Amino acid sequence: MRTKEVGRPLDRVDGRLKVTGQARYTAEFPVEQVAYGVLVRSTIARGRILAYGTKAAEQTPGVLAVLTHENAPKRHPTKEFDPSDKEPSASPTTILVLNTDEVSWHGQPLVVVIAETLDQAEEAASLVRITYAPAEELAKLSMLDQKTEAFVPKKVLNEKPEVTQGNAEEALAAAPVKIDHTYTTPPYNHNPIEAHNTLAYWEGDDQLTVYDSTQYIFGVRKMLSEMFALKEENVRVVSAFVGGAFGSKGRAWPHVGLTAMAAKVVGRPVKIDLPRKDMFYMVGGRTPSEQRVALGADAEGKLQAVVHTGLTASSTSNTFAEHFSFVTRHLYASPNFLIQQKLVRLDMVPNTFMRAPGEGIGTFALESAMDELAYALNMDPIELRLRNEPEKDPTMHVPFSSRHLKECFALGAEKFGWHQRNPQPRGRREGPWLIGQGTASAFYPANKRSAEVKVKLSIDGTALLQSATHEMGTGTATVQAQNAADQLGLSVEKVRFEYGDSLLPKANGSYGSTTTITVGGAVELACEDLKRQLLRLAVKHPSSVLHEANYDDLEARDNGLFYKDNPTRGETYAVILAREGKENLEAQASFPPFLKEKLEEMAYSFQSFGAQFCEVRVHEETGEVLVSRWVGVYDCGTILNDKTARSQFLGSVTMGIGMALWEETHWDLRDGRIPNASLSEYHVPVAAGLPRIEVYSLGIPDPHTPLGAHGAGEIAVTGAAAAIANAVYHATGKRIRDLPITPDKLL
Ligand code: MOS
Repeated sequence: MRTKEVGRPLDRVDGRLKVTGQARYTAEFPVEQVAYGVLVRSTIARGRILAYGTKAAEQTPGVLAVLTHENAPKRHPTKEFDPSDKEPSASPTTILVLNTDEVSWHGQPLVVVIAETLDQAEEAASLVRITYAPAEELAKLSMLDQKTEAFVPKKVLNEKPEVTQGNAEEALAAAPVKIDHTYTTPPYNHNPIEAHNTLAYWEGDDQLTVYDSTQYIFGVRKMLSEMFALKEENVRVVSAFVGGAFGSKGRAWPHVGLTAMAAKVVGRPVKIDLPRKDMFYMVGGRTPSEQRVALGADAEGKLQAVVHTGLTASSTSNTFAEHFSFVTRHLYASPNFLIQQKLVRLDMVPNTFMRAPGEGIGTFALESAMDELAYALNMDPIELRLRNEPEKDPTMHVPFSSRHLKECFALGAEKFGWHQRNPQPRGRREGPWLIGQGTASAFYPANKRSAEVKVKLSIDGTALLQSATHEMGTGTATVQAQNAADQLGLSVEKVRFEYGDSLLPKANGSYGSTTTITVGGAVELACEDLKRQLLRLAVKHPSSVLHEANYDDLEARDNGLFYKDNPTRGETYAVILAREGKENLEAQASFPPFLKEKLEEMAYSFQSFGAQFCEVRVHEETGEVLVSRWVGVYDCGTILNDKTARSQFLGSVTMGIGMALWEETHWDLRDGRIPNASLSEYHVPVAAGLPRIEVYSLGIPDPHTPLGAHGAGEIAVTGAAAAIANAVYHATGKRIRDLPITPDKLL
């Protein structure tokens, strides 16, 4: 028997292209006659332009155009980026920079300089002298200073902003054991290896082609078609390889429209590649948050009251309330809940999705609080979590499609050696190093979006899959080739996946850890359609051994359809196609199948779970924190490829460690300047500062998802910061409720 391809730790099919430099990213597409755009950005946070001072720039050799709101063609307002996001939006696309003289954040692009070469464009941009009329009212830059203006948004990521059940405050007051604390997280910025790049050219007045670093080809296409009043099919968006995205490329930032506009003005292809510094000013990051978590329990550790409320920030032009409270809606049982989020508006670049948005910061607060409660109860923190396992989703009141948090803790505790731990803080030291161990739950929803996939089977035994999904370094092309290989009974080398181009069948954005199930579901359906077509061809012929076969009697194997109960009886695809005189056969399918999906969505709560364990060493004199061990166990259903899933987990834990210990965007509250807008000052984890990270998957299939799979992209970020904060407490006896856990906070 041929082994299944799904589950095998196959190398990435594009691995060789990537390591030999042949994989082409947006900035690398060679286009003749390309001109270079450079942006001049605002140095105030709020106000108006008095004068642009562009004369010297215009006279610089090589300059083709200097565009400001005074001479740039007006673009049309665009609707929500993603039609499924009614309100609120992480979308910056409603701001039409250069349509107005208003300045809404420090770093907003105000001028586009286009020149023959990048050097010339940069030189000219450096000569622009803008004068401003700053707003009379001070810019709003501090979330905590604006607290009195906080409001409850209409929705939080398409869900209601509040959940109340019973009376949590009363139950809290009455609970024999309780904790009630405030946790804060700072703003963070995106720093994928590939920054954001866009290349645009026009053919005639109404054919626009854009190469863009994006996680959402069809979103960019829709936005550009609205902005330039084009038919959607007249806009082509290509995004062949993406060098990391993590949420930043889920939306089109202002330079995308500006590049297309500039190309139109100069009548040539134009590219704008954002420098690293511009990533901090022009691409939204994660909101700051202030969260209150209060937990009340009975003497046995059963939760009686769960309160999770707080505040995040969004800009004046978007309303993305990062959903930190969602995790608390699904993780632990309690008769009483009070969950609410408020929002304040700041004069900043619109915030956006970032590496497990919501759950990333929400689990820091909730899972730190669970550890605090465990100490208050004098109970093992794993035991506390197990005692609060819900039978159903505690706020949706439907069963979980699958939930194996218990098994995650059991395996993690064994691998980590948790039960040898003495719970007493400051109980272990080696010289100046205090050693502590911490744990936390991980949690991320198992969402699905929509995708269409076309599959074409050729008589030579190869299959081509096509879908305008994205390869951001996650392994999409590899795992879906494995999936199709199994569906069709081919070996994986015979399957090729084309993606990254709006000429291909439509797919939704690749974010929210949804691509694997969504595209996987569409691959499954398209392959089924194809096999049914093949069978229909065969049954027509009395000479075919499949003449009397039913679809359910057969399986795809060895390049053909064979009887399940007689593996030698069947026909290869080549035989079936040859008999019809066909070179190939195609099928196309959409996921989700509408009605079935709607019913399932209402019947179950789809979530992924995990258990994080870590050991830290804290230097008593310097306050330095080193993470010295990591064990993570995740419950993400069937794992399609052990190697690519493992890589996702490793990357996510790494990001969680960065979030806990180093990352923080500083805002100068006088004018919105970011003093650490560079990779030398914005600290991300590096290999030298990381421990060996051990990750495991349970691999238990979810009976209600395609292939039994869940996405694996983001869950391992969640709970990571809390596990570290809990370990730091165990090491030092100091509870740090304010990220990042920098040395000053420990001294
Ligand atoms: Mo992720 S923040 O959903 O790209």
